[in-house]
Amino acid sequence: MAYKVRFVNYPRQYQQLKQEFDAVFEEIMSGGDFILRRHLEAFEKNIAAYVGTKHAIGVNTGTDALYLSAHALGFGPGDEVITVAHTFVATVGAIVQCGATPILVDVRDDFNIDVDQIEAAITPRTRGIIPVHLNGHACEMDKIMEIAQKYNLKVIEDAAQALGASFRGKRCGSFGDTAIFSFYPAKMLGTAGDGGMVCTNDDDLARKLRAFRDNGRVESVEVIECFGWCSRLDNLHAALLNMKFRYFDKWVKRRREIARLYDEGLAGIDGLTPHPRSNGDYFDVYQNYVIRCKERDDLVAHLRSSGVEVLISWPKPLHKQKALGLSHFNLPMTERISAEVVSLPMYPELTDEEVKFVIETVKKFFV
Ligand SMILES: Cc1ncc(COP(=O)(O)O)c(C=O)c1O
Repeated sequence: MAYKVRFVNYPRQYQQLKQEFDAVFEEIMSGGDFILRRHLEAFEKNIAAYVGTKHAIGVNTGTDALYLSAHALGFGPGDEVITVAHTFVATVGAIVQCGATPILVDVRDDFNIDVDQIEAAITPRTRGIIPVHLNGHACEMDKIMEIAQKYNLKVIEDAAQALGASFRGKRCGSFGDTAIFSFYPAKMLGTAGDGGMVCTNDDDLARKLRAFRDNGRVESVEVIECFGWCSRLDNLHAALLNMKFRYFDKWVKRRREIARLYDEGLAGIDGLTPHPRSNGDYFDVYQNYVIRCKERDDLVAHLRSSGVEVLISWPKPLHKQKALGLSHFNLPMTERISAEVVSLPMYPELTDEEVKFVIETVKKFFV
């Protein structure tokens, strides 16, 4: 069926900025600037300045950004790394790909790691924590960094969904030893394909990451500093992202406006748990707007058949995915959330009329 309101609408953004998109393509194609060129350098500078870190290293996905970070920090066999199961599989995958062991703790009802459960999960083998700022909402980073210091642990912030979000005035991505961002098309800042970034204040880590992403080469293609990977953010993507970055603050503002419309329109409905509200410590950017309902599957069927495209992230938590071998973890809140969540359309190009239509359609389910 043709949806009245799409979950994301890439062509709409292209139509709105067509001249600028086309100009970027024309510039890159006619200049032949494809790999590790000035647009990438400029984009890395922009992101480092925006996030508040010394370095930003463009890589080809958020997944690689996580893995290369974990590898650069030296996580390996025998090490344990603490994270959550209510996340995209790549967060846990990065730990496993390094040969380390993921230790999963539960989340709170704001969908982020329950900081009060971290210390109980620490053993003599624990080397790191990967907090995930889900849905554009920061984790409680002061407590996480305090625990990390106390036990000498490394922190990788998974900020794939949180460019622009902050905790107590400090941007997500500026707390950890490294932090990662994703420029997957549907993300806060998305390219026309895949893209990722690692941010860090540490000069040695930055150099390692630059070497890892380009087969061991940093300053010269003739000097190989180590074995690495081929995981560069393409110059064309960087140029597109730089162009789009000019609109980023405006887009964050619009997402926050849409969130307010949803908050007001969906308040006080029996059986619906609204998207978590934050206090003044948090600046949320609403990568996703997530409501909860015990009859989730019926609600989703109703929304889809009424023309509203929605997404469930994620219907089965990672420790319940048989193939991953993580079934020994007991995570009741994670399981409850997975059974109840549904993400509503949330992107800056949504019109007020579309938001109203989504609200009215959700309401009809509960009358
Ligand atoms: C929380 C989280 N971590 C990591 C990733 C991986 O990013 P990418 O899709 O760019 O590899 C994503 C993207 O879906 C994500 O949402």
